[in-house]
Amino acid sequence: MIDSTQTQSADLRDFSGASALKASLAVAVTAASLAMAGGANAATWKMALGDAAGGTQYELGKTFASLVEEKSGGDIKVDLFPNGQLGSEQDTVNNASMGLVDLSVVAINNLTPFSPTVGVLTLPYVIHGPDDAKALTHGKIGDELRDNTLRDSGIRILGWAYSGCRRLTNSKQAVASPEDLAGMVIRVPKNEIMISSYQSWGVNPNPLAWSETFTALQQGVVDGQDNPYITIDAMKFYEVQNHVTDSCYVFSMEPLIMGEGTFQSLSEEQQTLVLAAGEEATSHSYDYLLATEDSIKKSLVEEHGMTITQPANDEKEWIAKASSIWPDFYDSIGGRDKLVEVLETLGRDPSTAP
Ligand code: MLT
Repeated sequence: MIDSTQTQSADLRDFSGASALKASLAVAVTAASLAMAGGANAATWKMALGDAAGGTQYELGKTFASLVEEKSGGDIKVDLFPNGQLGSEQDTVNNASMGLVDLSVVAINNLTPFSPTVGVLTLPYVIHGPDDAKALTHGKIGDELRDNTLRDSGIRILGWAYSGCRRLTNSKQAVASPEDLAGMVIRVPKNEIMISSYQSWGVNPNPLAWSETFTALQQGVVDGQDNPYITIDAMKFYEVQNHVTDSCYVFSMEPLIMGEGTFQSLSEEQQTLVLAAGEEATSHSYDYLLATEDSIKKSLVEEHGMTITQPANDEKEWIAKASSIWPDFYDSIGGRDKLVEVLETLGRDPSTAP
């Protein structure tokens, strides 16, 4: 098992609430257990979603909720609170670990500050598409990342939404090469790997919480951001952004999380049904992405007037610059060997890891 907590960078530690989370777990009174007080087994859980209704987070959450209700014979209901109503995604990680919210779906980049080894899933250009994402969230690597997250942050990953490649959008001009970003202010999540990726392209990005992103784009505080097509659509970013670059520097995966205190407060039978619902909802999320991404991409152009630009030169310049940052994060992801293992799992040449 990797002890990444000793090796994360000072900057990353600034974003990390891991030790506070561990401490608070000890005294957590779970919202779920309180909610159960009404009946022998009856409960209504709250699920936080950073995205608006209609995207991949919502689809995962809705599927999980109906499976849990069905499997519990109606004893457990799950209410969804989209659009960051229960706080920013990073806040909900904290709150889930303290039992203040029962469930949350967050983008993996917003979990990384709490458990640095999951950063291997955010290293630029490591994951090329849904099959890579599926391979890394299952099997040995998926199990290990889940165990590390539990250890580091008191958060249990129950399932995954697969949201697609993050595409760069902006309100200024078509962007095909990193040089086209000159002079633009780009919003990034509060994630060191993503900040560093933009720096490799010559941009000094603006790290902002997801819940503040639409307003910042609308008010021109920032010119652009990146997120998958389905998220761009669900968040109505087409109202404030006209250009999309068909890039794929990070594939967005969004874990469904529950605080471990909450999970341990459930009966064995409830734990089993929650884990099964998480697995089934994950499998549905993969199918949903494949079934909907292309038509949503088309509608962004045909119905909402966005212009899609292909990255110049098969994205080679973007890839070369961003991949050069990999070694800066070896310590936090568990060493170069971890990246080698990931690349081998994906059938990729491990010697590409510098
Ligand atoms: C972010 O950009 O912070 C997240 O990827 C947004 C999301 O959860 O969809």
